[in-house]
Amino acid sequence: MNQQYAMKIYSAPLQGFTEAVWRNVHDKVFGGIDGYYTPFLRYEHGEIRSKDIRDVERKNNTVKNLVPQVIAATPQELAPLMELLAKEGYSRADINMGCSFALQVRKKHGAGLLPHPDMIAALLDAAAGYKDFEFSIKMRLGWESKNEWRELIPILNAAPLKHVTMHPRLGIEQYKKPADFDAFAEFLEACRHPVIYNGDILSLADIQRIEHSFPSLEGVMIGRGLLANPALGIEYRNGGELSCEEKRNLVLAMHGEMLRELAPRLQGNTQFLTKMKPYWEYLLPDMCKRDKKAILKATTIDKYLSAVGNALAGY
Ligand SMILES: Cc1cc2nc3c(=O)[nH]c(=O)nc-3n(C[C@H](O)[C@H](O)[C@H](O)COP(=O)(O)O)c2cc1C
Repeated sequence: MNQQYAMKIYSAPLQGFTEAVWRNVHDKVFGGIDGYYTPFLRYEHGEIRSKDIRDVERKNNTVKNLVPQVIAATPQELAPLMELLAKEGYSRADINMGCSFALQVRKKHGAGLLPHPDMIAALLDAAAGYKDFEFSIKMRLGWESKNEWRELIPILNAAPLKHVTMHPRLGIEQYKKPADFDAFAEFLEACRHPVIYNGDILSLADIQRIEHSFPSLEGVMIGRGLLANPALGIEYRNGGELSCEEKRNLVLAMHGEMLRELAPRLQGNTQFLTKMKPYWEYLLPDMCKRDKKAILKATTIDKYLSAVGNALAGY
């Protein structure tokens, strides 16, 4: 096995983007990813949304290294999510303690849980009771104070976790302020579990910089950067960037496969364009601005396909 690369590269969960079709196709066309995390599964109004169930059903997933993510504030909310995952034969789950969407935070979900050590202790205690599962956590430094993690660290260290992914910002900051590398370094030192860094990785150089700054990291988790450059995982493994032409050909292949998978399910111009256009808000940010604008302005499937064809031909 080629072991020049030391860190693992994980694909971050992004609601609306890194769903089963994107993951399956990314894995098939690009690869280079050690684990794909699903957007969070939630239990709401007495049920799990059927769309979210479909996203984790084995029959819809070809990715081998898939980690379903759950969001819950209490053991009671966790239970139905774990029941679904057990039924689907999973043995891994990631708990979301980083989401900063107001609707979730209000329910003490995601980053809304971080100011409540007692609730986190109860949740992790319940998680430890699912003996067939290994759990990980994805979190921020805190909700509104960058010292919140300090109160949590004894609880995290006492729990049997596979790893902790840290996005070193506060919940109230969303994605605005720069990531806090000093606080991250302190967290890394204090955490007894393997740690994964997440946040603002956009290039191979960014991955290498993080690896150099924090050599004890287990890996990095990449969200928007992987939507922008789906080759980041293979670039890290190869130790060099793909040429524009190589990247364009792979993006073309990935886009074609996504269309084949999605087109039969998306009826009409509106559904199709609403699903596909947001990917172009991120994909290939160095593409000619006029070409990108033409994709984002397309009003029919035909105009969209022709704009994508033009844009990629000129990339
Ligand atoms: C549109 C969107 C959806 C997201 N959905 C999730 C999610 O379901 N679960 C989660 O843990 N984080 C979610 N996140 C946060 C990302 O996983 C990641 O932590 C964040 O984007 C920072 O990493 P990045 O700079 O590499 O994108 C989401 C972020 C965005 C922008």
